[in-house]
Amino acid sequence: MRRKLVIGNWKMNGRRSDNPALLSSIVHGTERARAECVVCVPAPYLAQCEAVLAGTSVGWGAQDVSTHELGAYTGELAACMLVEFGCSHVIIGHSERRANHCESNEAVGMKAVAALKAGITPVLCVGERLEERRAGRTAAVVSAQLEAVLRLIDPSDVAKLVLAYEPVWAIGSGQTATPEMAQEVHAHLRAHLAQKHAEGAATVRILYGGSMKPGNAKELMAMPDIDGGLIGGAALIAADFLAIIHAAN
Ligand code: PGA
Repeated sequence: MRRKLVIGNWKMNGRRSDNPALLSSIVHGTERARAECVVCVPAPYLAQCEAVLAGTSVGWGAQDVSTHELGAYTGELAACMLVEFGCSHVIIGHSERRANHCESNEAVGMKAVAALKAGITPVLCVGERLEERRAGRTAAVVSAQLEAVLRLIDPSDVAKLVLAYEPVWAIGSGQTATPEMAQEVHAHLRAHLAQKHAEGAATVRILYGGSMKPGNAKELMAMPDIDGGLIGGAALIAADFLAIIHAAN
C-alpha cells in the first residue's frame, strides 16, 4: 500500500514575514495526518523551512535544481546546496519551467540524475498541453517526458522517484482532469515505469496536479493509481492545504 503524499508547490509566492505562520499551521494541522506532507518553497525561504519544520513530520524542498554540480552557472541552485538546507524533495520539469525556461526532456533527465546523486527525491512533473490532448497525444507526450529520465537512471533508482501528472491545461486554470481521465494517465505512467523496474513501479507515488482543491481532492485521490497531489494555489491557504491532506487520509 502506497502512503499518500501531498506536496505544496508555492511557486514564486510567500513572504518572509508571513511564512512562519503558514508553516506552523501546516505542522499543527498535520500532526495526526496519515498522509505524508512536503512543501516546496522558493530557495530564499529554505532556511525558514529548516527552522520551523525540522523535527516535525512535514518535509521541505525546492522547485528546481541545476544539472551541474557547482561552478560558473549564474542563478542556478546546486543539489548539494539543497542538501545543506535539509531538502528532502525537489520538483523537476514543472511545465512552467519547461515553457518559460525552455527546459528540454533531456535537461530534466539530467536534473533527476543530479538530485538522485545528492540523495534528494526528484518530483518529476509530466503533462500534456491542451492541443496535445486534443490530438490524442497525451500518452506519447508523458511517456517521452518520463523516458528521458528513465534512460539516464539505474533501474534500481525507479523506486526513488515521485511522479506528478500535471496536465498543462489544468494548472492554475480552475479546470481539473476528471478522476477517470487522470487515472488513465497515471496507470499508463506506472506501466511505463514497470518496463524499467517492476517492483519499483509498484511503490512509486504518482501525484495529480492541476487545480486540485478541497472540493475535488477526495475523488481524485480515491483512484487506484493517484497517490496524492501536487498543489499550487491551494497550498498557499492553510485551511485549503490541510483539507486536501485530510482528504488524502
Ligand atoms: P495549481 O498548480 O494547483 O495552482 O493548478 C499546480 C502546479 O502547478 O503544481
